[in-house]
Amino acid sequence: MIGSGSMYPEVLLEHIQKCKRATSKPFGVNLPLLYPDIDKHIEHIINEKVPIVFSSAGNPAKYTSKLKEAGITVVHVVANKKFALKAEQAGCDAVVAEGFEAGGHNGREETTTMCLIPMIKEQVNIPVIAAGGIGSGRAMAAAMALGADGVQMGSRFAATFESSAHEAFKSEIINADDGDTQLTLKEVTPVRLIKNKFYADVQEAYERGASKEELIQLLGRGRAKKGMFEGDLKEGELEIGQVSAQISKMKTAAEVVEETWGEFQLTCKSLSSFSNFG
Ligand SMILES: Cc1cc2nc3c(=O)[nH]c(=O)nc-3n(C[C@H](O)[C@H](O)[C@H](O)COP(=O)(O)O)c2cc1C
Repeated sequence: MIGSGSMYPEVLLEHIQKCKRATSKPFGVNLPLLYPDIDKHIEHIINEKVPIVFSSAGNPAKYTSKLKEAGITVVHVVANKKFALKAEQAGCDAVVAEGFEAGGHNGREETTTMCLIPMIKEQVNIPVIAAGGIGSGRAMAAAMALGADGVQMGSRFAATFESSAHEAFKSEIINADDGDTQLTLKEVTPVRLIKNKFYADVQEAYERGASKEELIQLLGRGRAKKGMFEGDLKEGELEIGQVSAQISKMKTAAEVVEETWGEFQLTCKSLSSFSNFG
């Protein structure tokens, strides 16, 4: 998936073309629906015949039919039952059900992956891709046991050699431990991030009863870029999930995929021994 949320339209176009040159396999673009220049993004996606779009942060009813008419597979990211149903009704081919543990922008409900996946699975008839807290094959097996048809991993790939994140941010992920991330800024746009100086400033604002407008002002523009791409560990927004506590080594993206798949298979095999009980 190419994350388009941090890209100008011409940068997205460049990345799509680069991806097409690099692989003949399917790929997709993640499209935050609240992106200010979304029409330009969609124009590039359709013209370049991108096969898959994962839409997030917005109403799936608005753009799904346009994308589907262009022959694109559309998957929408949800954090609750209501939006899962909306996505299905809008004609989406699948949903990503993303739990409270996940890095980056998140649902306000604080529903964990463990509780979310079975609920969404019961709610919709389209495939459910689990996200949030999955950084290993064992976690993938757990998500599949809950009813997921696939998984999406974010934080684990942020700490790979190929990731375009700043090296300082990658080191911060490797060093992150239990309890080092927090979901905050619910009134503005809920986000899970590392508890750095910027987070402390947000906490301080909450303690003095800051209004939503003050929080928006404190967040300002380009915080995420400052932290994740420019490596400003104090003032930047360092979006990462709880699973960062389990990430202790930089790997290549291929290693992550191979190890996750290998561990998933081993886990399934070891769990199958339970079927001998009783
Ligand atoms: C640094 C970072 C940036 C992300 N950016 C986006 C994004 O632009 N759009 C989106 O739908 N999800 C985004 N996500 C969420 C991931 O796509 C994924 O659902 C999430 O990371 C899964 O949880 P995990 O972090 O526990 O693996 C981002 C996650 C991280 C860690």
